[in-house]
Amino acid sequence: MSAIAGPMGRVVDPARMRRVMGRFATGVAVITALDERGDPHGMTLNSLTSVSLEPPILLVCFSTRARTAVAVAESGRFAVSILAARQEPIALRFAGRGEDHFAGLPLTYGDHDVPVVPDALAHLECTVDRSVTAGDHVVVFGAVERTCDRDGPPLAFLGGRFGDFTGRGHQPQSWFF
Ligand SMILES: Cc1cc2nc3c(=O)[nH]c(=O)nc-3n(C[C@H](O)[C@H](O)[C@H](O)COP(=O)(O)O)c2cc1C
Repeated sequence: MSAIAGPMGRVVDPARMRRVMGRFATGVAVITALDERGDPHGMTLNSLTSVSLEPPILLVCFSTRARTAVAVAESGRFAVSILAARQEPIALRFAGRGEDHFAGLPLTYGDHDVPVVPDALAHLECTVDRSVTAGDHVVVFGAVERTCDRDGPPLAFLGGRFGDFTGRGHQPQSWFF
C-alpha cells in the first residue's frame, strides 16, 4: 500500500485515512449516468457535497476506476438519487464491483433521460460544470438543473456501516453562511 507523509513526519496510510474519515457520518446516494452508447451506469457514493447555492452546484468524488465516472465524462450529465433509510439493499446493489447494477431493477427516468432510483428521498439532475483529478479520484462539479424531493428518514453511513439518523428534536437550524 502506498502512504502519504503527513506533518511531523507521520504517515497517513490508506487504511488510516479510510478509518478516520469513516468517523464523519454521511448520507448515501446513487449516481447514475448514460455512457456514449446509451447504456446506464450507476454507483453508490457518499462523497456528495453541496458547493454553491447561487448558482446551485454540488460535487461528487469518483474513483478513477469507477465505470460510472467514465459514463459521466462521456455524457457530461448525471443524476443523484439520495437514498431513504429502507434502501440499504439498493446501496449494496450499486456498490458491487463489476456487476450489472441495473439487472432486474425497474427504471425511472429524469428529464435528461438519465435513469434514477425509484422511491429515493430526492433526485437532482446535473450537467458537468468541471472536473478535477485529485490523487486516485476525480472530483466532478455538477450544475444542478432540476430537483425533486419528499419527506422521510434517510439512509446514513458511519464507520463502514449503514444506519439510521436520529434527530434530537431541536428546531431546524438556519444556515449561518
Ligand atoms: C456507502 C458507500 C459509499 C461509497 N462512496 C463512494 C464514493 O464516494 N466514491 C467512489 O468512487 N466509490 C464509492 N463507493 C464504492 C462504489 O459504489 C463501488 O466501487 C461501485 O462498484 C462502483 O461502480 P461502477 O464501477 O459500476 O461505477 C461507495 C460504496 C459504498 C458502499
